[in-house]
Amino acid sequence: MFTEEQIQEIENAPLAEALKLATAAFPAETVFSTSLGQEDQVLTEVIAAHKLPVRIFTLDTGRLFYEHYDLLEKTNARYKINIDVYFPEAPDVEAYVKAKGVNGFYESVENRKECCFIRKVKPLNRALKGAKVWITGLRSEQSENRKDMKMIEWDEDRGLYKFNPLIHWTYDEMLRYIEQKNIPYNPLHDKGFVSIGCAPCTRAIEPGEDPRAGRWWWEASHKECGLHVHQ
Ligand code: ADX
Ligand code: SF4
Repeated sequence: MFTEEQIQEIENAPLAEALKLATAAFPAETVFSTSLGQEDQVLTEVIAAHKLPVRIFTLDTGRLFYEHYDLLEKTNARYKINIDVYFPEAPDVEAYVKAKGVNGFYESVENRKECCFIRKVKPLNRALKGAKVWITGLRSEQSENRKDMKMIEWDEDRGLYKFNPLIHWTYDEMLRYIEQKNIPYNPLHDKGFVSIGCAPCTRAIEPGEDPRAGRWWWEASHKECGLHVHQ
């Protein structure tokens, strides 16, 4: 367990120091899920630069933009790492496609959530097995649901700590950091894509639109896929 003092110390430390402290507390049990989004690229840079003992993984839903795969290769090469890739279970996807169609997620929120569950949530739970600390790139600015999240939270359902080191970072701070360190990022970000998920479920946004308006844009709300929903 983290003590209250440790949590305080981590919350008040600069980014690299916070990551060092958290991983030192759980050296073989800290994992980081990267979507290769800009936030996650910042975290990968810090983890790699300080050679922190963190297993890095990404979830390949099978429906990602091809730019994602280029960036995965580029990131591995740049930081001399080998990000683990988790896939959904083939029988789950096959049964879904048979019953709902290959793009069945457009038809109802229920269908969409089921697809996200099969392609993301289930593989995530598999990837988190044995972990005690789960690092994410969540920022509170991103959405209403994320506004009140803390830097370190106990995830009761998964029985681990969720560690969100960038929770208080603004979008501009993140962009400055990426520029300063020349961190590789998805070229779609320069074409109006702020938050990037699967290709059929992500569109570019217009200036002034909510940063998550491009995710599941055909739905009125429900801008979460289940990875980060408070149960
Ligand atoms: S999502 O729930 O809407 O898809 P978002 O794209 O904002 O999440 O990313 C928030 C955090 O969730 C990322 O910083 C990352 O830790 C995790 N995440 C999201 N998608 C993936 C993915 N495909 N693979 C690994 N981690 C992911
Ligand atoms: Fe399926 Fe779309 Fe969810 Fe990706 S974002 S898992 S394609 S519903």
